[in-house]
Amino acid sequence: MSNEYKQGTLSMAELSPIDPQELLAAGELPQHIAVIMDGNGRWAMRRHKPRVWGHKKGVNSVRTIVEAAVELGVSALTLYAFSEENWQRPPREISAIMALINKYLDLEIERLREHNVRLLTIGELSRLPLATQRKVAYACEYLGDCSGLTLTIALSYGGRTEIAGACRLIAQKVAKGQVRWEEVDQGMVNDHLLTRGLPDPDLLIRTSGEQRISNFLLWQMAYTELWFTSVAWPDFSKQNFYQAIAAYQLRARRFGKTEQQIRSLPRVESPLACVSPDG
Ligand code: FPP
Repeated sequence: MSNEYKQGTLSMAELSPIDPQELLAAGELPQHIAVIMDGNGRWAMRRHKPRVWGHKKGVNSVRTIVEAAVELGVSALTLYAFSEENWQRPPREISAIMALINKYLDLEIERLREHNVRLLTIGELSRLPLATQRKVAYACEYLGDCSGLTLTIALSYGGRTEIAGACRLIAQKVAKGQVRWEEVDQGMVNDHLLTRGLPDPDLLIRTSGEQRISNFLLWQMAYTELWFTSVAWPDFSKQNFYQAIAAYQLRARRFGKTEQQIRSLPRVESPLACVSPDG
């Protein structure tokens, strides 16, 4: 990686291509990367095509980025494929997205297995069409014993609903006398989220120029590094993915501690252990 890049004196467009081997040598990789795959519709409209065309092209980017994550040895990749709010879209667009998800699972399941990819989903799956529910359940089962990349697809997912669900489960346990209210803490909330067992994302990538979180992994992203790009999801390439990781590697993650404390630690501790108001 060039010194100009490290010093921030070069823009992304002026950068020479990033070699993934350089990334591996440059520092720690983010272990869990979350992605808001935005901009499919606008990308298609700019080309005078229907919005669904953009989603179709977006599936190619899904393939590319899953492959890049596998090649780099990233542990977890979570893709925001369909939000709770997306149910408000025109029924035809919703059906087309569901059909693309079905097709992706049909076509990719063997390749995912060859790459040792474990598949998980988060969200209110019961709202999905039955065919999609069945395909998702089969794929998660089929890939359940894979031990490489954990690929989580967020489907009919909303962060606030997820947190409310965790509260409901804990309240039930308190009501039944299985848990005392004084015992409710961050760890317990974590264990009742849909993402239980997954580490918090280290890096969030959002494509297409918007700079917001849009109800994605609200609890889990308390200390996530955010990286935004104007590139639309259908154009998002391995090089863009490497750029996000290279930018992440230049960030100083302090989790509320001082720089001196961080330097004297062999490895950064869990963010939950050291939450402070000044980030
Ligand atoms: C956001 O772009 C994208 C979506 C709501 C759907 C994403 C779905 C896919 C890429 C296809 C299937 C996914 C998998 C994992 C196989 P947008 O439509 O909001 O774009 P806009 O902001 O330009 O309207």
